[in-house]
Amino acid sequence: METSSKKIYIETYGCQMNVNDSEVIFSIMADEGFSRTEDISEADLILANTCSVRDNAEQRIWGRIEVFNQARKQHPGALVGIVGCMAERLKDKLLDTGKVDLVVGPDAYRRLPELVRAIRPDSPQIDVLLSRDETYADIKPLRTDRNGLSAFISIMRGCDNVCSYCVVPYTRGAERSRDPHSIVREACDVFSRGYREVTLLGQNVDSYLWKAEGESVNFAELLRRVASVSPQLRVRFATSHPKDISDEVIKVMAETPNICRHIHLPVQSGSSRMLEKMRRKYDREWYLERVRRIREAMPDCGLTTDVIAGFCSETEEDHLQTLSLMKEVGFDWAFMFAYSERPGTLAARQYPDDVPQEVKSRRLSEIIELQNGISLERYRAQIGKRHTVLVEGPSKRDPSWLCGRASNNMMCVFPAAEGLSPGVYADIEVTDCTSATLIGKTLLSL
Ligand code: SAH
Ligand code: SF4
Ligand code: F3S
Repeated sequence: METSSKKIYIETYGCQMNVNDSEVIFSIMADEGFSRTEDISEADLILANTCSVRDNAEQRIWGRIEVFNQARKQHPGALVGIVGCMAERLKDKLLDTGKVDLVVGPDAYRRLPELVRAIRPDSPQIDVLLSRDETYADIKPLRTDRNGLSAFISIMRGCDNVCSYCVVPYTRGAERSRDPHSIVREACDVFSRGYREVTLLGQNVDSYLWKAEGESVNFAELLRRVASVSPQLRVRFATSHPKDISDEVIKVMAETPNICRHIHLPVQSGSSRMLEKMRRKYDREWYLERVRRIREAMPDCGLTTDVIAGFCSETEEDHLQTLSLMKEVGFDWAFMFAYSERPGTLAARQYPDDVPQEVKSRRLSEIIELQNGISLERYRAQIGKRHTVLVEGPSKRDPSWLCGRASNNMMCVFPAAEGLSPGVYADIEVTDCTSATLIGKTLLSL
């Protein structure tokens, strides 16, 4: 086959790290002569970059494998690969289906070209070795975002925490931080290509630490360096860990206007007993103290979170503690999940998954309902306030309106006006809202 005619199709599931990893994969495969397609029927290589964090994430992929297999039958010679966290977790179980030619874990993407070349009908290929040092620092991701404004930059890989419910340390391996110089170079590069926002990604960005030749860079210092690329470049990051977010990081944020005022600070539960069992290494009081500290330094800081309902042995009292913490903090938004037991995790090995499904679902609904009300209140509280918004493009609902995010990460819509195009900063005043969008009018700058 002629190399230049080969096409690769990737579906990406799971977190933003996977989005960035797919861009790394596109880049590696482009060097091998593959061009990207969004049409599965013309693909020579069909990949799913997968997630294992909850059982339903994996169930979805089993469904996709059937669809890929159909596409493979219709396009003889097309290959099907499963990469990412589910590849790492299930390894050759995926090959046993006979519907998959390739299984590659998150630390083995450099080997994709040789693995793809080695595939034969009776010899699928697999590499699920985890690495202590792979960060793909030297690979320039082939950005797949459409607006060309907002780029994800992975600053670290893996996770050294052992939250008892979580599969990520098993699928992503040990934590390692990427060379800060390569991170700053990447930020400069995307800025020079017109990007106006970078999001620094890691499972626990607060534990970022790079040490080499007398140089030691922590997350606060990294933030400073990336923010100094240009005052016109917005810097965001995720995810922060309540046990590790430092006063220094809060201070750097407060001092630096182009570091966005938004922290995603997953709490998981409002019950100290549950937090202990989850091995989060903080308790309710510690979490609330961190929130106080953030709000003292930045009263306008957006706060979002993740919550798990129905973890092992969770009582009604524990659940009420979660609801009361959510009220006390007043998150702008939350990702809310029912606990899903993941094989091999500490919780799966040590604690019975003993909260009945209907109780988990009821608690989750209560959490969601409470959060919807809180979100509406939080958005309503913005009415009358002014925000600087990075214009992303036309609003989906009404193309004569524009949309973009405020520094606190709230989505804003406002009427289009002369001089406002994607990548420009617009000042708006909020006039109305829903529970997920601020509606505003543009303020004319004098
Ligand atoms: N590193 C981040 C989160 C990574 S996973 C952190 O430490 O917060 C994203 C979210 O998925 C978690 O915050 C948690 O709320 C949820 N999650 C992880 N494992 C889960 C499980 N077994 N069941 C339900 N939700 C889970
Ligand atoms: Fe999972 Fe905890 Fe690591 Fe987050 S910090 S990825 S929840 S083990
Ligand atoms: Fe899922 Fe892996 Fe991300 S398990 S949440 S894709 S790190």
